[in-house]
Amino acid sequence: MKYMTGNEIREKFLKFFQDRGHLMLPSASLIPQDDPTLLIIGAGMAPFKPFFTGKMKPPATRITTCQKCVRTGDIENVGRTARHHTYFEMLGNFSFGDYFKKEVIPWSWEFLTEELGLPADKLYITIHTEDDEAFDIWHNVVGVPEDHIVRLADNWWEIGSGPCGPDSEIHIDLGPERGCGKPTCGPGCDCGKYTELGNDVFMQYEKHHDGHLTPLKQKNVDTGWGLERILAFLNGTRDVYQTDLFAPVIAYIEEASGVKYNADEKLTRSMRILADHLRTSVMLIGDEAKLLPSNTGAGYILRRLIRRAVRHGRTLNMTTEQLLHIAAMYIDEIYAESYPLMKKNREFVLSELQKEIARFESTLENGMKELQKILEQKRSEGKKEIDGKSAFYLYDTFGFPLELTVELAQEENLTVDEEGFAAAMEEQKQKAREGQNFSQK
Ligand code: GLY
Repeated sequence: MKYMTGNEIREKFLKFFQDRGHLMLPSASLIPQDDPTLLIIGAGMAPFKPFFTGKMKPPATRITTCQKCVRTGDIENVGRTARHHTYFEMLGNFSFGDYFKKEVIPWSWEFLTEELGLPADKLYITIHTEDDEAFDIWHNVVGVPEDHIVRLADNWWEIGSGPCGPDSEIHIDLGPERGCGKPTCGPGCDCGKYTELGNDVFMQYEKHHDGHLTPLKQKNVDTGWGLERILAFLNGTRDVYQTDLFAPVIAYIEEASGVKYNADEKLTRSMRILADHLRTSVMLIGDEAKLLPSNTGAGYILRRLIRRAVRHGRTLNMTTEQLLHIAAMYIDEIYAESYPLMKKNREFVLSELQKEIARFESTLENGMKELQKILEQKRSEGKKEIDGKSAFYLYDTFGFPLELTVELAQEENLTVDEEGFAAAMEEQKQKAREGQNFSQK
């Protein structure tokens, strides 16, 4: 196994596939073009959907990229583990009606075990239950022992509507000190012992808006590797926050807050959330699309991330200047070489971030006081839940995203009536619509 930096792995991967006839393209914007089924790009294949379905002709039938991605579906786990983060880079190689399983499976193995030097005996493969062809290639061609290949019914990959198909995932065993210890524990268990490094998706179907599937005219491949996870394993830390893509920021947070990483569970969680959410925010604002925080769509995701970062920054007693310093570290140091666009958008990113932090700071103070009143009232009434109307009041008047109220309530062992919140939101929208109709008459 070789120690490598993020930049080295990126370069190695892209070269490996260029040497195998792939056209290298730069990462697409994080904001999808012409794909209403996605708010933000969350996979290397997402910008290429029309190439897989055959609706558009690709510039080459073999393409390789390192794609900027954001996934917030697992946001609750960010900070709780050393392997979850919202922004990540996906190393991808794609075949649009060109090669298929017998080429890509050996390439994936060669890249991991020979180029990166990952230990073969620690790698486990999962395949779709019915994919005998993949089993045959993994076992008989590549030589993976039978007890390292697991058939799973849910080895199927899709994102929004469009191309999809069965996949083979490659997991790495992080060792006996990790894991739940249950007899059923194995690749696919979410306890953390087996971490998925990436997958080969055999894109053979199209999922339509109503959910039904039709076979595609061509057989495609979509391979995606999570750069940060590979990096964490290669440099021996098993913790993405201790790789070169995060370590300088974590060291700065330690210095500025006086809190030691990994000394206290709750504060370590705040450190990771702060480092992660600021990185994602920098990437979104500094993107080609120059996303701005707002109350809808992708802009709302960005707003939630910044507000969560600020709140955890406050838990660590960090100032706005210090948060902006972290943002600048990503731009000036960590991604200076690999994302020059960020540098170009530097002042824009920092000033928009500063504005959103200031907006939130001014409402946070008042909102927290209001929330305290609500919490005290609920406690005195012996209630365990904040009602939807109160949560909506915090959202509407103080800019508290629902998730923030839920999180703060959780810290006090209370829940939030989320359905009641949605009903109050709908009621307000209805009133606004009625108001609009009235003024138009
Ligand atoms: N290669 C598909 C994915 O996991 O994003």
